[in-house]
Amino acid sequence: MSTVPKLKQVVTRGNELNVEGEAKVYRSLRHFWHVVAYSHEVTDQPVGFTLCEQDIVIVRLNGEISVFDDLCPHRGTRLSIGTVRDGCRLECPYHGWQFDQEGHLALAPQRPDLAGHLRAQTRRYQSVEKYGMVWVCLEDKPHFPLPEYPVWDDPEFHYVAVPPDDWKCSAPRRVENYTDYSHFAILHDGYLADRTVPQVPPHDVWRNDNKLENLQGQDAWVRVPIDSAAWGGKDKPEDPYLRLRFNWRVFMPLTCVYDITFQDGNRYHLLFHPTPMGPKKIRNFTVSSRDFGDRNNAKQELSDFVKLIYDQDKYVVESQRPEELPEDLTKEMHLKGVDKFSVEYRLWLLELAKQLTRE
Ligand code: FES
Ligand SMILES: [Fe+2]
Repeated sequence: MSTVPKLKQVVTRGNELNVEGEAKVYRSLRHFWHVVAYSHEVTDQPVGFTLCEQDIVIVRLNGEISVFDDLCPHRGTRLSIGTVRDGCRLECPYHGWQFDQEGHLALAPQRPDLAGHLRAQTRRYQSVEKYGMVWVCLEDKPHFPLPEYPVWDDPEFHYVAVPPDDWKCSAPRRVENYTDYSHFAILHDGYLADRTVPQVPPHDVWRNDNKLENLQGQDAWVRVPIDSAAWGGKDKPEDPYLRLRFNWRVFMPLTCVYDITFQDGNRYHLLFHPTPMGPKKIRNFTVSSRDFGDRNNAKQELSDFVKLIYDQDKYVVESQRPEELPEDLTKEMHLKGVDKFSVEYRLWLLELAKQLTRE
């Protein structure tokens, strides 16, 4: 009799949503760089994608990436079902209008005499290729520069682009999941940590330029079961656990970069970005790098390991309500010292949202 009303109360409270507040966070994401594809996926075959509910087409013209509205200005056909002509113009399949690298109409075949005098164009968005990924910002002035991933230029590292995966959740929820210390020992028991050691090591959290950083104390090595880690095919030692130290940073608002150092000095790094396709849908993009193990096996081993962990997270994150992070911190509960990163992350996210969505 006494437990039922209590449970009801908890569920109701967890579902409260300040729609206006949460929508601001989502709207503010337009002002930042997002990954829309891996570089190797973009050829002279145009591909469509949806970034913050904006349909875009990504294509390689003259060897460089161009990103346009996925909409022909003539009659609204999707340009992503079009064709590249002469390697440098994107042709709409309906009446054959052709657009150059800048999105300007270069040719309407029905009136070739107008070439050079046509003012029509499809909107072009700025894009950058970096870390084997294509980054796009929907607004003219990105609020922060591109995230940094220094090991990209280090020839010691083997690099893998993990196949993308779509999840039904909001992007900030996913970032919070990615950076949540205290679920490792429970949800990833036997893979990322050990259920018998659920304590969160002491750590500091601070803002540094455009990133939220954290670092554990120098002696805070974490035990990770060897079978499940990105072990790289090395001979297994007697001790079934690895010791590793990891720290990470979030390039606000969504890019997570991990540095993991094993006790023997081997290094494993990750760059992760959950791109918001809509308020409650993301595409997970991950590049993963290590400086040990067999280079020939890196692709399979790193991808398999990341997928294994992501699959454990997916069904939990997709179940969270509300899908957005509540704007009001008191709507959910936070453990002192344990959930420090989440709290600081939410506070900064909300500051950015207020700043960027000011009317
Ligand atoms: S709709 Fe694209 S050319 Fe007519
Ligand atoms: Fe996780």
